Amino acid sequence: MLADKRILLVMSGGIAAYKALELIRRLKERGASVRVVMTKAAEEFVTPLSAGALSGDRVYSDLFDLTAEHDIGHIKLSRDADLIVVAPATANIIAKMAAGIADDLATNVLLATDKPILLAPAMNPRMWANAATQRNVAWLKGERVFTVGPNVGSMAERGEFGPGRMAEPMEIVAAIEALVAPAPDAAPGPLSGRHVLVTSGPTHEPIDPVRFLANRSSGKQGHAVAAAAARLGARVTLVSGPVTIPDPAGVSVVRVETARQMLAAVEAALPADIAIFAAAVADWRVATEAEEKLKKGPAGVPQLNLVENPDILASIGRHPSLRPKVVIGFAAETENLVANASAKLQRKGADVIVANDVSPETGIMGGDRNHVRFVSATGVEDWPEADKAAVAAEILARAARLLAG
Ligand code: CTP
Repeated sequence: MLADKRILLVMSGGIAAYKALELIRRLKERGASVRVVMTKAAEEFVTPLSAGALSGDRVYSDLFDLTAEHDIGHIKLSRDADLIVVAPATANIIAKMAAGIADDLATNVLLATDKPILLAPAMNPRMWANAATQRNVAWLKGERVFTVGPNVGSMAERGEFGPGRMAEPMEIVAAIEALVAPAPDAAPGPLSGRHVLVTSGPTHEPIDPVRFLANRSSGKQGHAVAAAAARLGARVTLVSGPVTIPDPAGVSVVRVETARQMLAAVEAALPADIAIFAAAVADWRVATEAEEKLKKGPAGVPQLNLVENPDILASIGRHPSLRPKVVIGFAAETENLVANASAKLQRKGADVIVANDVSPETGIMGGDRNHVRFVSATGVEDWPEADKAAVAAEILARAARLLAG
């Protein structure tokens, strides 16, 4: 259900615009409020009147509509939503987004927003395959921009076949629900009635009131693990360091900044059946955080005195009473991947270490894909490179088996 969710639907000009009308109906049926912004080209395919009748609101299209700018404004339009959906998303609007062009209301809204954006691309297969479109989509996709489709099929143009068809309205609804709506409680699944605890993201270790030590972790893999656990029916607690990606659906999120806060939040969330430690915890913190901002001056360059942070995985993995039945850690390495991961398995008391090579050339840290080795007492498996969501689903499937075994 999408009750109380506010969706801003941006329609750009494509033949698939008629399917966006159906999308409005489906969203309204689920209790969402829908506001529609149309480009001039979209109005060539469907009328604002029909979109407005279905959404139950006026349709916004003109950047220089003074009344609208007065009572609402494009900034407010873009902020008053839980999610922005661009459907259909033409090659043109995707290119403008990637280039940061804002030359009408729709593109101004997209440039000004701080909300997640779901693109439903719709275009001719050759336009989709074009290197420029592929580059733009790859560049946009990441922390806040998601895609659904395009599907493979025949086009409105005769004889054209390939990827380019906009996803069906119900597929777009499912993608919207996955982004903004919690999964239904106690969905029956292999982990129904189980508690899964996940850590994710980096930690920030303060130096003074304005500076901190951190690392490049985006939280994408850890958040995907939490989402995968929820999909198997588990109750999930996600303890997350500072990240900019949205909370996964159906998961209870505890936000922390430092390693010590993360350990405290993990301890507070126990007991759990499975714990998966995907966070890139800072190994060190500054011994004493300066109360005032450190200043340049005659005293010279500040010397940071570092002390070691608690090892969260090791303290839970080796805990005499609190240890969950299944404990899985990650290992971020830039050399000797398998040897280092095997050593961590022993040292930290984990059942599995999911090891990845985070050398900059792999693009794994911060990226959408992962290539992992699954290291356990029974051996080392080299998994094929895959989407972080697919890697997460496989990790959870294995965790569920270990729990049952
Ligand atoms: N980890 C943790 N607490 C820490 C450091 C790491 O819980 N203070 C967990 C991570 O979440 C991960 C695993 O330990 O599951 C391995 O993290 P990694 O950074 O690869 O290892 P380190 O312990 O930092 O070891 P090294 O310095 O040898 O890389």
